[in-house]
Amino acid sequence: MSKRIDPASAVRKPGRRRVLAASGFTLTALAAAAAFTLSATPAFSDAMPGGNRHLGQYIFRFDTFGDEQLWTDTLRMHEVIQAAVSPRTALAVGLKVDAAALPPNFLATRDLDDPATTVELLRRNAVVGVVSKVEDGQLTSVGITCALCHSTVDNSVAPGVGRRVDGWPNLDLNPGAIIALSPALPEEVKAVYNSWGPGRYDPRFNIDGINGPLVIPPAYGLAGVPFETFSGDGPISYWNNYVAVTQMGGHGNFSDPRLGISIEQTPDLVTPKLPQLLAYQLSLPAPRPPEGSVNAAAAQRGAALFNGTAGCGSCHIAPTYTDVHNGPDADTPLLHDPAETGMDPGYAQRSATGKYRSTPLRALWQHPPYFHDGSAPTLGAVVDHYDTHFALGLTPEQKADLVAFLKSL
Ligand code: HEC
Ligand code: HEC
Repeated sequence: MSKRIDPASAVRKPGRRRVLAASGFTLTALAAAAAFTLSATPAFSDAMPGGNRHLGQYIFRFDTFGDEQLWTDTLRMHEVIQAAVSPRTALAVGLKVDAAALPPNFLATRDLDDPATTVELLRRNAVVGVVSKVEDGQLTSVGITCALCHSTVDNSVAPGVGRRVDGWPNLDLNPGAIIALSPALPEEVKAVYNSWGPGRYDPRFNIDGINGPLVIPPAYGLAGVPFETFSGDGPISYWNNYVAVTQMGGHGNFSDPRLGISIEQTPDLVTPKLPQLLAYQLSLPAPRPPEGSVNAAAAQRGAALFNGTAGCGSCHIAPTYTDVHNGPDADTPLLHDPAETGMDPGYAQRSATGKYRSTPLRALWQHPPYFHDGSAPTLGAVVDHYDTHFALGLTPEQKADLVAFLKSL
Protein backbone atom coordinates (compact mmCIF):
# COMPACT_ATOMS: atom_id res chain seq x y z
CA MET A 1 0.00 0.00 0.00
CA SER A 2 2.65 2.51 0.91
CA LYS A 3 5.23 1.67 -1.72
CA ARG A 4 5.91 4.73 -3.80
CA ILE A 5 6.78 4.55 -7.49
CA ASP A 6 8.17 7.59 -9.23
CA PRO A 7 5.02 9.06 -10.77
CA ALA A 8 7.10 10.44 -13.62
CA SER A 9 7.61 6.89 -14.78
CA ALA A 10 3.92 6.09 -14.49
CA VAL A 11 1.45 6.67 -17.26
CA ARG A 12 1.50 10.39 -17.75
CA LYS A 13 2.60 13.54 -16.07
CA PRO A 14 -0.11 15.86 -14.85
CA GLY A 15 0.41 19.33 -16.19
CA ARG A 16 1.78 18.15 -19.51
CA ARG A 17 0.54 20.40 -22.26
CA ARG A 18 0.02 19.16 -25.70
CA VAL A 19 -2.04 20.07 -28.71
CA LEU A 20 -3.79 17.13 -30.24
CA ALA A 21 -3.71 17.24 -34.00
CA ALA A 22 -6.45 14.69 -34.58
CA SER A 23 -8.98 15.76 -31.99
CA GLY A 24 -12.04 16.41 -34.08
CA PHE A 25 -15.06 16.22 -31.77
CA THR A 26 -16.88 19.51 -31.44
CA LEU A 27 -20.18 19.46 -29.64
CA THR A 28 -22.01 20.23 -32.86
CA ALA A 29 -20.39 17.31 -34.62
CA LEU A 30 -21.18 15.21 -31.60
CA ALA A 31 -24.82 16.22 -31.60
CA ALA A 32 -25.09 15.39 -35.28
CA ALA A 33 -23.40 12.04 -34.75
CA ALA A 34 -25.60 11.26 -31.78
CA ALA A 35 -28.76 12.12 -33.65
CA PHE A 36 -27.64 9.92 -36.51
CA THR A 37 -26.78 6.96 -34.34
CA LEU A 38 -29.93 7.25 -32.31
CA SER A 39 -32.22 7.13 -35.30
CA ALA A 40 -30.15 4.56 -37.17
CA THR A 41 -29.65 1.98 -34.44
CA PRO A 42 -32.64 0.10 -33.02
CA ALA A 43 -30.69 -0.57 -29.80
CA PHE A 44 -30.92 3.12 -28.98
CA SER A 45 -34.64 3.46 -29.50
CA ASP A 46 -35.47 2.72 -25.86
CA ALA A 47 -33.45 5.72 -24.77
CA MET A 48 -35.18 8.67 -26.35
CA PRO A 49 -36.36 11.10 -23.66
CA GLY A 50 -34.50 14.33 -23.09
CA GLY A 51 -31.89 15.91 -25.37
CA ASN A 52 -29.23 16.15 -22.72
CA ARG A 53 -29.72 12.59 -21.70
CA HIS A 54 -29.33 11.54 -25.36
CA LEU A 55 -26.19 13.41 -25.87
CA GLY A 56 -24.97 12.28 -22.47
CA GLN A 57 -25.48 8.66 -23.42
CA TYR A 58 -23.50 9.20 -26.58
CA ILE A 59 -20.68 10.86 -24.64
CA PHE A 60 -20.69 8.14 -21.96
CA ARG A 61 -20.46 5.37 -24.54
CA PHE A 62 -18.45 6.81 -27.38
CA ASP A 63 -16.56 9.99 -26.47
CA THR A 64 -12.83 9.60 -25.90
CA PHE A 65 -12.32 13.32 -25.19
CA GLY A 66 -9.23 13.05 -27.40
CA ASP A 67 -7.62 10.51 -25.08
CA GLU A 68 -5.97 8.86 -28.07
CA GLN A 69 -3.10 11.11 -27.03
CA LEU A 70 -2.56 8.68 -24.15
CA TRP A 71 -3.76 5.27 -25.43
CA THR A 72 -2.35 5.61 -28.95
CA ASP A 73 0.45 8.19 -28.96
CA THR A 74 1.93 7.40 -25.55
CA LEU A 75 0.92 3.84 -24.63
CA ARG A 76 0.82 2.56 -28.25
CA MET A 77 -2.02 0.18 -27.43
CA HIS A 78 -3.03 0.02 -31.09
CA GLU A 79 0.23 -1.79 -31.89
CA VAL A 80 -0.26 -4.39 -29.16
CA ILE A 81 -3.89 -5.03 -30.05
CA GLN A 82 -3.16 -5.48 -33.73
CA ALA A 83 -0.23 -7.80 -33.00
CA ALA A 84 -1.41 -9.88 -30.08
CA VAL A 85 -4.92 -9.33 -28.73
CA SER A 86 -7.34 -11.97 -30.06
CA PRO A 87 -11.04 -11.76 -29.15
CA ARG A 88 -10.44 -14.62 -26.71
CA THR A 89 -7.72 -12.58 -24.98
CA ALA A 90 -9.89 -9.46 -25.00
CA LEU A 91 -12.78 -11.34 -23.35
CA ALA A 92 -10.36 -12.88 -20.85
CA VAL A 93 -9.30 -9.43 -19.61
CA GLY A 94 -12.98 -8.55 -19.21
CA LEU A 95 -13.64 -6.49 -22.33
CA LYS A 96 -17.29 -6.76 -23.43
CA VAL A 97 -18.79 -7.07 -26.91
CA ASP A 98 -21.89 -5.09 -27.90
CA ALA A 99 -23.99 -7.58 -29.88
CA ALA A 100 -26.16 -4.76 -31.25
CA ALA A 101 -23.19 -3.52 -33.28
CA LEU A 102 -22.75 -6.87 -35.05
CA PRO A 103 -24.73 -8.94 -37.56
CA PRO A 104 -26.30 -12.06 -36.00
CA ASN A 105 -23.87 -14.97 -35.55
CA PHE A 106 -20.93 -12.76 -36.38
CA LEU A 107 -18.66 -14.24 -33.72
CA ALA A 108 -19.74 -17.82 -34.46
CA THR A 109 -18.29 -17.50 -37.94
CA ARG A 110 -14.98 -15.83 -37.06
CA ASP A 111 -11.60 -16.97 -35.74
CA LEU A 112 -11.60 -15.92 -32.09
CA ASP A 113 -7.86 -16.56 -31.79
CA ASP A 114 -6.96 -14.09 -34.52
CA PRO A 115 -6.17 -10.47 -33.55
CA ALA A 116 -7.54 -9.45 -36.97
CA THR A 117 -10.99 -10.40 -35.65
CA THR A 118 -10.46 -8.00 -32.74
CA VAL A 119 -9.57 -5.27 -35.21
CA GLU A 120 -12.77 -6.04 -37.13
CA LEU A 121 -14.80 -5.82 -33.89
CA LEU A 122 -13.18 -2.47 -33.18
CA ARG A 123 -13.88 -1.27 -36.71
CA ARG A 124 -17.55 -2.07 -36.12
CA ASN A 125 -17.48 -0.19 -32.81
CA ALA A 126 -18.47 -3.39 -30.98
CA VAL A 127 -15.98 -3.37 -28.10
CA VAL A 128 -17.65 -1.60 -25.17
CA GLY A 129 -15.70 1.46 -24.07
CA VAL A 130 -13.07 1.31 -26.81
CA VAL A 131 -13.18 3.62 -29.81
CA SER A 132 -10.80 3.18 -32.70
CA LYS A 133 -9.85 4.04 -36.22
CA VAL A 134 -9.13 1.29 -38.71
CA GLU A 135 -7.72 2.01 -42.14
CA ASP A 136 -7.23 -0.84 -44.65
CA GLY A 137 -7.36 -3.42 -41.88
CA GLN A 138 -4.73 -1.53 -39.87
CA LEU A 139 -5.61 -0.21 -36.43
CA THR A 140 -4.33 3.36 -36.45
CA SER A 141 -5.74 4.69 -33.19
CA VAL A 142 -7.55 3.62 -30.02
CA GLY A 143 -9.08 5.57 -27.18
CA ILE A 144 -11.32 4.71 -24.23
CA THR A 145 -14.65 5.99 -22.95
CA CYS A 146 -16.48 6.02 -19.61
CA ALA A 147 -18.27 2.82 -20.67
CA LEU A 148 -15.04 0.84 -20.44
CA CYS A 149 -15.28 0.69 -16.64
CA HIS A 150 -18.91 1.65 -15.99
CA SER A 151 -20.82 -0.48 -18.52
CA THR A 152 -21.09 -4.16 -19.12
CA VAL A 153 -23.34 -6.39 -21.26
CA ASP A 154 -26.21 -8.71 -20.35
CA ASN A 155 -24.46 -11.84 -21.75
CA SER A 156 -27.57 -12.53 -23.85
CA VAL A 157 -25.52 -13.89 -26.77
CA ALA A 158 -22.59 -15.51 -24.96
CA PRO A 159 -20.53 -14.75 -21.85
CA GLY A 160 -19.19 -11.24 -22.41
CA VAL A 161 -21.38 -10.67 -25.48
CA GLY A 162 -24.81 -9.04 -25.38
CA ARG A 163 -26.67 -5.78 -24.98
CA ARG A 164 -25.07 -2.87 -23.17
CA VAL A 165 -26.06 -2.11 -19.60
CA ASP A 166 -24.73 1.33 -18.73
CA GLY A 167 -23.86 2.26 -15.17
CA TRP A 168 -23.11 -1.32 -14.14
CA PRO A 169 -19.48 -1.52 -13.09
CA ASN A 170 -17.51 -3.94 -15.25
CA LEU A 171 -16.11 -6.05 -12.43
CA ASP A 172 -14.65 -8.56 -14.90
CA LEU A 173 -12.52 -5.86 -16.47
CA ASN A 174 -8.85 -5.98 -15.58
CA PRO A 175 -7.73 -2.43 -16.39
CA GLY A 176 -4.30 -2.98 -14.86
CA ALA A 177 -3.57 -6.02 -17.02
CA ILE A 178 -4.74 -4.11 -20.09
CA ILE A 179 -2.54 -1.07 -19.40
CA ALA A 180 0.39 -3.37 -18.62
CA LEU A 181 0.25 -4.66 -22.22
CA SER A 182 1.66 -1.32 -23.34
CA PRO A 183 5.18 -1.52 -24.74
CA ALA A 184 5.85 1.97 -23.38
CA LEU A 185 5.93 1.24 -19.66
CA PRO A 186 8.90 0.27 -17.48
CA GLU A 187 8.77 -3.19 -15.86
CA GLU A 188 8.40 -1.81 -12.33
CA VAL A 189 5.27 0.11 -13.33
CA LYS A 190 3.84 -2.87 -15.25
CA ALA A 191 4.26 -4.98 -12.13
CA VAL A 192 2.04 -2.57 -10.21
CA TYR A 193 -0.65 -2.58 -12.91
CA ASN A 194 -0.54 -6.38 -13.08
CA SER A 195 -1.07 -6.62 -9.32
CA TRP A 196 -4.56 -5.06 -9.35
CA GLY A 197 -6.74 -7.86 -10.72
CA PRO A 198 -10.26 -7.77 -12.19
CA GLY A 199 -12.72 -5.05 -11.17
CA ARG A 200 -10.00 -2.91 -9.58
CA TYR A 201 -8.47 0.38 -10.65
CA ASP A 202 -6.38 2.99 -8.85
CA PRO A 203 -7.35 6.45 -10.10
CA ARG A 204 -4.44 8.14 -8.34
CA PHE A 205 -1.47 5.87 -9.03
CA ASN A 206 -0.27 7.91 -12.01
CA ILE A 207 -0.51 11.06 -9.90
CA ASP A 208 1.05 10.08 -6.57
CA GLY A 209 2.83 6.82 -7.39
CA ILE A 210 1.14 4.99 -4.52
CA ASN A 211 -0.42 1.61 -5.22
CA GLY A 212 -3.85 1.02 -3.62
CA PRO A 213 -6.53 0.02 -6.14
CA LEU A 214 -10.27 0.56 -5.59
CA VAL A 215 -13.24 -1.53 -6.61
CA ILE A 216 -14.85 0.05 -9.69
CA PRO A 217 -18.15 1.45 -8.36
CA PRO A 218 -21.51 1.62 -10.15
CA ALA A 219 -22.41 4.85 -11.96
CA TYR A 220 -26.16 4.23 -11.48
CA GLY A 221 -28.48 5.23 -8.64
CA LEU A 222 -26.71 8.55 -8.07
CA ALA A 223 -29.71 10.90 -8.22
CA GLY A 224 -29.86 12.80 -4.93
CA VAL A 225 -26.33 11.80 -3.86
CA PRO A 226 -24.49 15.04 -3.11
CA PHE A 227 -20.87 13.87 -3.10
CA GLU A 228 -19.14 11.37 -5.30
CA THR A 229 -16.20 9.06 -4.79
CA PHE A 230 -15.38 6.96 -1.78
CA SER A 231 -13.72 9.98 -0.21
CA GLY A 232 -16.41 12.51 -1.14
CA ASP A 233 -14.01 14.70 -3.10
CA GLY A 234 -16.78 16.51 -4.97
CA PRO A 235 -20.00 16.17 -6.97
CA ILE A 236 -20.38 13.99 -10.07
CA SER A 237 -19.08 16.53 -12.59
CA TYR A 238 -16.00 17.23 -10.49
CA TRP A 239 -15.09 13.57 -10.59
CA ASN A 240 -16.03 13.07 -14.24
CA ASN A 241 -13.73 15.95 -15.08
CA TYR A 242 -10.92 14.50 -12.95
CA VAL A 243 -11.17 11.05 -14.52
CA ALA A 244 -11.59 12.24 -18.09
CA VAL A 245 -8.49 14.43 -17.94
CA THR A 246 -6.12 12.79 -15.47
CA GLN A 247 -6.98 9.10 -15.97
CA MET A 248 -8.44 8.60 -19.42
CA GLY A 249 -5.96 11.13 -20.79
CA GLY A 250 -8.67 13.29 -22.35
CA HIS A 251 -7.70 16.59 -23.88
CA GLY A 252 -9.03 19.30 -21.60
CA ASN A 253 -8.75 21.22 -18.36
CA PHE A 254 -8.77 20.02 -14.80
CA SER A 255 -7.41 21.68 -11.72
CA ASP A 256 -7.75 21.07 -8.01
CA PRO A 257 -5.44 23.00 -5.69
CA ARG A 258 -6.22 20.49 -2.91
CA LEU A 259 -4.41 17.85 -4.97
CA GLY A 260 -1.85 20.18 -6.52
CA ILE A 261 -3.11 19.38 -10.01
CA SER A 262 -3.44 21.98 -12.73
CA ILE A 263 -3.86 20.78 -16.29
CA GLU A 264 -4.80 22.99 -19.20
CA GLN A 265 -5.06 21.73 -22.74
CA THR A 266 -6.66 23.75 -25.50
CA PRO A 267 -9.13 22.96 -26.97
CA ASP A 268 -10.95 21.66 -23.90
CA LEU A 269 -12.82 18.59 -25.13
CA VAL A 270 -14.06 17.65 -21.66
CA THR A 271 -15.58 20.53 -19.66
CA PRO A 272 -18.28 21.57 -22.17
CA LYS A 273 -19.66 18.01 -22.15
CA LEU A 274 -20.00 17.61 -18.39
CA PRO A 275 -23.64 18.79 -18.13
CA GLN A 276 -24.85 16.23 -20.67
CA LEU A 277 -22.76 13.51 -19.07
CA LEU A 278 -24.24 14.42 -15.69
CA ALA A 279 -27.81 14.26 -17.04
CA TYR A 280 -27.16 10.79 -18.37
CA GLN A 281 -25.65 9.45 -15.18
CA LEU A 282 -28.51 10.86 -13.10
CA SER A 283 -30.96 9.08 -15.40
CA LEU A 284 -29.50 5.63 -14.70
CA PRO A 285 -31.61 3.87 -12.08
CA ALA A 286 -30.13 1.26 -9.76
CA PRO A 287 -31.26 -2.18 -10.97
CA ARG A 288 -33.79 -3.95 -8.74
CA PRO A 289 -32.83 -7.25 -7.13
CA PRO A 290 -33.82 -10.31 -9.19
CA GLU A 291 -37.35 -11.56 -8.59
CA GLY A 292 -37.51 -13.94 -5.64
CA SER A 293 -33.97 -13.22 -4.43
CA VAL A 294 -35.01 -11.47 -1.22
CA ASN A 295 -36.92 -12.88 1.76
CA ALA A 296 -39.32 -10.00 2.38
CA ALA A 297 -40.04 -10.80 6.03
CA ALA A 298 -36.33 -11.05 6.86
CA ALA A 299 -35.64 -7.82 4.95
CA GLN A 300 -38.32 -6.06 6.96
CA ARG A 301 -36.81 -7.20 10.25
CA GLY A 302 -33.39 -6.17 8.86
CA ALA A 303 -34.68 -2.69 8.02
CA ALA A 304 -35.82 -2.21 11.60
CA LEU A 305 -32.38 -3.22 12.87
CA PHE A 306 -30.62 -1.06 10.28
CA ASN A 307 -32.52 2.03 11.36
CA GLY A 308 -32.64 1.04 15.00
CA THR A 309 -30.24 -0.76 17.31
CA ALA A 310 -27.57 -1.61 14.68
CA GLY A 311 -27.12 2.15 14.14
CA CYS A 312 -26.51 1.93 10.38
CA GLY A 313 -29.18 4.49 9.59
CA SER A 314 -27.34 7.27 11.39
CA CYS A 315 -24.84 7.41 8.51
CA HIS A 316 -26.68 5.68 5.66
CA ILE A 317 -29.77 7.87 5.43
CA ALA A 318 -32.72 6.85 3.22
CA PRO A 319 -33.57 7.19 0.37
CA THR A 320 -30.00 7.32 -0.99
CA TYR A 321 -28.45 5.75 2.11
CA THR A 322 -25.53 8.18 2.14
CA ASP A 323 -24.77 11.05 4.55
CA VAL A 324 -26.79 14.17 4.04
CA HIS A 325 -26.40 17.55 5.62
CA ASN A 326 -29.37 19.80 5.87
CA GLY A 327 -29.46 23.54 6.27
CA PRO A 328 -26.54 25.93 5.80
CA ASP A 329 -23.93 23.12 5.70
CA ALA A 330 -25.57 21.39 2.75
CA ASP A 331 -22.57 22.08 0.48
CA THR A 332 -20.04 20.56 2.86
CA PRO A 333 -19.69 16.82 2.70
CA LEU A 334 -20.34 14.96 5.93
CA LEU A 335 -17.48 12.48 6.03
CA HIS A 336 -15.92 10.00 8.42
CA ASP A 337 -12.41 9.45 9.66
CA PRO A 338 -11.30 6.00 8.49
CA ALA A 339 -10.98 4.88 12.11
CA GLU A 340 -14.62 5.74 12.81
CA THR A 341 -15.81 2.77 10.75
CA GLY A 342 -12.62 0.72 10.91
CA MET A 343 -11.47 1.32 7.33
CA ASP A 344 -7.93 1.18 5.99
CA PRO A 345 -6.87 4.85 5.93
CA GLY A 346 -4.48 4.49 2.95
CA TYR A 347 -6.79 5.63 0.18
CA ALA A 348 -8.44 8.43 2.16
CA GLN A 349 -5.03 9.92 2.88
CA ARG A 350 -4.34 10.21 -0.83
CA SER A 351 -7.63 11.99 -1.54
CA ALA A 352 -8.62 15.63 -1.21
CA THR A 353 -10.63 15.08 1.98
CA GLY A 354 -8.66 12.46 3.94
CA LYS A 355 -11.95 10.78 4.91
CA TYR A 356 -14.59 8.38 3.66
CA ARG A 357 -18.15 9.11 2.63
CA SER A 358 -20.91 6.71 3.73
CA THR A 359 -21.30 4.89 0.44
CA PRO A 360 -24.81 5.33 -1.03
CA LEU A 361 -26.30 1.84 -0.80
CA ARG A 362 -27.81 0.89 -4.15
CA ALA A 363 -28.22 -2.44 -5.92
CA LEU A 364 -25.81 -4.04 -3.48
CA TRP A 365 -26.81 -7.47 -4.80
CA GLN A 366 -25.25 -6.50 -8.13
CA HIS A 367 -21.73 -5.39 -7.25
CA PRO A 368 -19.71 -7.38 -4.71
CA PRO A 369 -17.08 -7.00 -3.29
CA TYR A 370 -17.82 -4.15 -0.86
CA PHE A 371 -15.98 -1.22 0.72
CA HIS A 372 -13.62 0.95 -1.31
CA ASP A 373 -10.86 -1.65 -1.34
CA GLY A 374 -13.12 -4.68 -1.73
CA SER A 375 -12.13 -5.88 1.74
CA ALA A 376 -15.61 -7.41 2.30
CA PRO A 377 -16.27 -10.12 -0.31
CA THR A 378 -19.94 -10.55 0.69
CA LEU A 379 -22.71 -8.64 2.48
CA GLY A 380 -22.27 -11.12 5.34
CA ALA A 381 -18.66 -9.95 5.64
CA VAL A 382 -19.85 -6.31 5.69
CA VAL A 383 -22.20 -7.04 8.58
CA ASP A 384 -19.48 -9.03 10.41
CA HIS A 385 -17.13 -6.07 10.01
CA TYR A 386 -19.58 -3.67 11.66
CA ASP A 387 -20.59 -6.21 14.29
CA THR A 388 -16.95 -6.44 15.39
CA HIS A 389 -16.08 -2.78 14.94
CA PHE A 390 -19.07 -1.37 16.80
CA ALA A 391 -19.30 -4.36 19.19
CA LEU A 392 -22.96 -4.76 18.22
CA GLY A 393 -23.33 -8.31 19.53
CA LEU A 394 -25.69 -9.30 16.69
CA THR A 395 -27.10 -12.85 16.74
CA PRO A 396 -26.75 -15.01 13.59
CA GLU A 397 -30.46 -14.40 12.89
CA GLN A 398 -30.05 -10.64 13.16
CA LYS A 399 -27.05 -10.74 10.83
CA ALA A 400 -29.06 -12.73 8.29
CA ASP A 401 -31.92 -10.21 8.55
CA LEU A 402 -29.54 -7.28 7.96
CA VAL A 403 -28.08 -9.07 4.93
CA ALA A 404 -31.61 -9.65 3.57
CA PHE A 405 -32.34 -5.93 3.95
CA LEU A 406 -29.07 -4.95 2.23
CA LYS A 407 -29.88 -7.34 -0.65
CA SER A 408 -33.24 -5.62 -1.08
CA LEU A 409 -31.70 -2.17 -1.70
C1 HEC B 1 -10.38 2.94 -15.86
C2 HEC B 1 -11.69 2.77 -15.23
C3 HEC B 1 -12.58 3.99 -15.15
C4 HEC B 1 -12.98 4.83 -16.17
C5 HEC B 1 -12.55 4.82 -17.63
C6 HEC B 1 -13.91 5.75 -15.59
N1 HEC B 1 -14.09 5.47 -14.26
FE1 HEC B 1 -15.47 6.27 -13.05
N2 HEC B 1 -14.61 5.38 -11.47
C7 HEC B 1 -13.60 4.45 -11.52
C8 HEC B 1 -13.14 4.18 -10.16
C9 HEC B 1 -12.05 3.20 -9.76
C10 HEC B 1 -13.90 5.00 -9.30
C11 HEC B 1 -13.79 5.14 -7.77
C12 HEC B 1 -13.03 6.41 -7.46
C13 HEC B 1 -13.15 6.89 -6.04
O1 HEC B 1 -14.22 6.71 -5.45
O2 HEC B 1 -12.22 7.51 -5.52
C14 HEC B 1 -14.83 5.72 -10.15
C15 HEC B 1 -15.84 6.58 -9.68
C16 HEC B 1 -16.84 7.09 -10.47
C17 HEC B 1 -18.05 7.70 -9.97
C18 HEC B 1 -18.44 7.86 -8.51
C19 HEC B 1 -19.37 6.77 -8.05
C20 HEC B 1 -19.69 6.93 -6.59
O3 HEC B 1 -20.53 6.20 -6.08
O4 HEC B 1 -19.10 7.76 -5.91
C21 HEC B 1 -18.76 8.12 -11.06
C22 HEC B 1 -20.11 8.81 -11.05
C23 HEC B 1 -17.98 7.78 -12.24
N3 HEC B 1 -16.83 7.13 -11.84
C24 HEC B 1 -18.32 8.09 -13.55
C25 HEC B 1 -17.41 8.01 -14.61
C26 HEC B 1 -17.55 8.70 -15.88
C27 HEC B 1 -18.71 9.57 -16.29
C28 HEC B 1 -16.45 8.39 -16.62
C29 HEC B 1 -16.05 8.95 -17.96
C30 HEC B 1 -15.76 10.38 -17.96
C31 HEC B 1 -15.65 7.46 -15.83
N4 HEC B 1 -16.24 7.30 -14.61
C32 HEC B 1 -14.52 6.80 -16.28
C33 HEC B 1 -13.12 3.87 -12.68
C34 HEC B 1 -13.27 4.41 -13.95
C1 HEC C 1 -20.30 6.07 11.23
C2 HEC C 1 -20.94 5.97 9.93
C3 HEC C 1 -21.37 4.59 9.46
C4 HEC C 1 -22.16 3.66 10.12
C5 HEC C 1 -22.73 3.75 11.52
C6 HEC C 1 -22.34 2.57 9.18
N1 HEC C 1 -21.70 2.82 8.02
FE1 HEC C 1 -21.70 1.64 6.38
N2 HEC C 1 -20.33 2.85 5.50
C7 HEC C 1 -19.80 3.98 6.08
C8 HEC C 1 -18.67 4.42 5.32
C9 HEC C 1 -17.79 5.62 5.62
C10 HEC C 1 -18.53 3.51 4.25
C11 HEC C 1 -17.46 3.50 3.15
C12 HEC C 1 -16.33 2.62 3.64
C13 HEC C 1 -15.37 2.15 2.58
O1 HEC C 1 -15.72 2.15 1.42
O2 HEC C 1 -14.26 1.73 2.93
C14 HEC C 1 -19.60 2.53 4.39
C15 HEC C 1 -19.82 1.46 3.53
C16 HEC C 1 -20.83 0.53 3.68
C17 HEC C 1 -21.15 -0.51 2.74
C18 HEC C 1 -20.42 -0.79 1.43
C19 HEC C 1 -21.18 -0.34 0.21
C20 HEC C 1 -20.45 -0.59 -1.07
O3 HEC C 1 -21.08 -0.41 -2.14
O4 HEC C 1 -19.24 -0.91 -1.06
C21 HEC C 1 -22.21 -1.19 3.23
C22 HEC C 1 -22.93 -2.36 2.57
C23 HEC C 1 -22.54 -0.61 4.51
N3 HEC C 1 -21.69 0.44 4.75
C24 HEC C 1 -23.55 -1.07 5.34
C25 HEC C 1 -23.67 -0.66 6.67
C26 HEC C 1 -24.43 -1.36 7.68
C27 HEC C 1 -25.21 -2.62 7.43
C28 HEC C 1 -24.26 -0.67 8.83
C29 HEC C 1 -24.80 -1.00 10.22
C30 HEC C 1 -24.42 -2.30 10.72
C31 HEC C 1 -23.42 0.47 8.56
N4 HEC C 1 -23.07 0.43 7.25
C32 HEC C 1 -23.06 1.43 9.48
C33 HEC C 1 -20.27 4.63 7.19
C34 HEC C 1 -21.07 4.04 8.16
